[in-house]
Amino acid sequence: MVDLKGQYQKIKEEIDSEISKVIDSTAFINGPIVKEFQQNLAEYMGCRHVITCGNGTDALQISMMALGLQPGDEVITTPFTFIATVEVVALLGLTPVFVDVCPDTYNIDVTKIEAAITPRTKAIVPVHLFGQCADMERIMEIADKHGLYVIEDACQAIGAEVTFRDGSRRKAGTIGTIGCTSFFPSKNLGCYGDGGAIFTNDDDIATRLRGIANHGSFVKYHHDLVGVNSRLDSIQAAILNVKLRYLDSYNTARQKAADRYCQLLSGCAGITLPSVAPFTTHVFHQFTLCVDENIDRNQVQEKLKAAGIPSMVYYPVPIHEQKAFAKFGCKAGDFPVAEKLCRTVLSLPMHTEMTDEMQKYITDNLKDAVSSSRTIRIIGITGTLGAGKGTVVEYLKEKYGFVHFSVRDFLKEEVLRRGMEPNRDSFTQVANELRAAHTPSYVTDCLYERAAQQPHDAVIESIRTPGEIDSLQARGNFQLWAVDADPEIRYRRAVLRNSETDHVTYETFLANERREMTSTDPNKQNLSVCIARADTVFQNNGDLAALYQAVDEVMQAIPKKY
Ligand SMILES: Cc1ncc(COP(=O)(O)O)c(C=O)c1O
Repeated sequence: MVDLKGQYQKIKEEIDSEISKVIDSTAFINGPIVKEFQQNLAEYMGCRHVITCGNGTDALQISMMALGLQPGDEVITTPFTFIATVEVVALLGLTPVFVDVCPDTYNIDVTKIEAAITPRTKAIVPVHLFGQCADMERIMEIADKHGLYVIEDACQAIGAEVTFRDGSRRKAGTIGTIGCTSFFPSKNLGCYGDGGAIFTNDDDIATRLRGIANHGSFVKYHHDLVGVNSRLDSIQAAILNVKLRYLDSYNTARQKAADRYCQLLSGCAGITLPSVAPFTTHVFHQFTLCVDENIDRNQVQEKLKAAGIPSMVYYPVPIHEQKAFAKFGCKAGDFPVAEKLCRTVLSLPMHTEMTDEMQKYITDNLKDAVSSSRTIRIIGITGTLGAGKGTVVEYLKEKYGFVHFSVRDFLKEEVLRRGMEPNRDSFTQVANELRAAHTPSYVTDCLYERAAQQPHDAVIESIRTPGEIDSLQARGNFQLWAVDADPEIRYRRAVLRNSETDHVTYETFLANERREMTSTDPNKQNLSVCIARADTVFQNNGDLAALYQAVDEVMQAIPKKY
């Protein structure tokens, strides 16, 4: 994912010489180089104070301690971040309150922040994820209005800049009450070990931050506060002091690589490229795109890996669904945007040493992997004559782009091929002959094979016998829908085996009691979804809206991949 060696080779002489100087001086802890680096970084950032510390996680924790946040205080942040952001909140006994993110920038959705504010809210922690800033101008307005602190988690965004409405520009981490960053080796400004820094323009807060990072001590061996020991060592400061001179060129190299990725992948079906909000620059700590939900992301990663290309999923599980954070009472479904991103994001290699050839190779392989890892939904429709099956099929075609595979058309093809007159009798005759010659599920099996070989979601209409149902239900990506005019589903008694256990009403389906398609017991997975509301079409003299609504709700509720 990164090429730290290639980067080091280019500045080896400078780095080695600075490291030697520290070793010669033996001032390993709090040496003069640490102060020098802090000053240089403060100048680069355009802020009054830089307090270096052990890592980005410490930076966040020390910040929350310095602001005097107390157990029970609420801190608003995002569920789509690296664990450290929320870990320190929990460690200090504070309560994280999550706000969902924007689907395009992956950063906190500012339109949802105010609804999460309570009398116990003390701070907002926006995360500038993957290298672009959250909407800091709006966040500061909200914080000012409600008297809240803002701690920016700029661990992934050093050097990114926000442009305010008045045209002024400020660097990520210098806009809130406090900002934090990490010098983890792979970060845009990375050292050769662990390191972090805290930014503030407030003199009093800066004093508290320094004291807390130094065992709560403001005068040597006098400890006014309970603090921590968190220091950037001199060797790391020396390395960072050299690399800081290159930070802007490193960020530019990342931006160029990101542009190139976007050019190479533009218009690629199944991929949504990262977008940059108009008020911020993006320093592309990560180049993170999304693959469509009907693309098997694991398979894409496996194919990339086989071609020698690393890829990562940052992050596969949103914080509110992490076991350690279950006690805060959130559950799957609470933050749908973050949850969807966890299912779909994919980060490609991104660093300062990317070449055109590398990126061409990566994107060529990615395109192949994406187009060959698409999974499609295949739905089979069953139901009594006149129940509304055809109406559902038409709707799936029109609204959701399904392709229709019809038993009737298949039989007609076969009848014509045999030079017979196409009518009900000849269809029945041919169907019976085919079933006798092959298997009872032969006709629908053929349709399934056709459906599976094309790239679109497909609907097979209609499925008639238990044999057909069993055969199709054994396939991984098949789901059976019953469309029936009778809410009691009398039809299932006639057709579906084990109907008492297999019956899932539309309502219980929506209450998440639907039959899982992964069941290995074929007797227990006959019917997946019942569009019981089909009856309204007929009772209400063609009220199609209710039927369409039922289909829409089912389409939303079923996973895109199964
Ligand atoms: C968003 C975010 N916050 C906090 C951290 C913690 O930084 P560190 O690893 O230096 O403790 C990281 C580091 O990966 C991060 O990406």
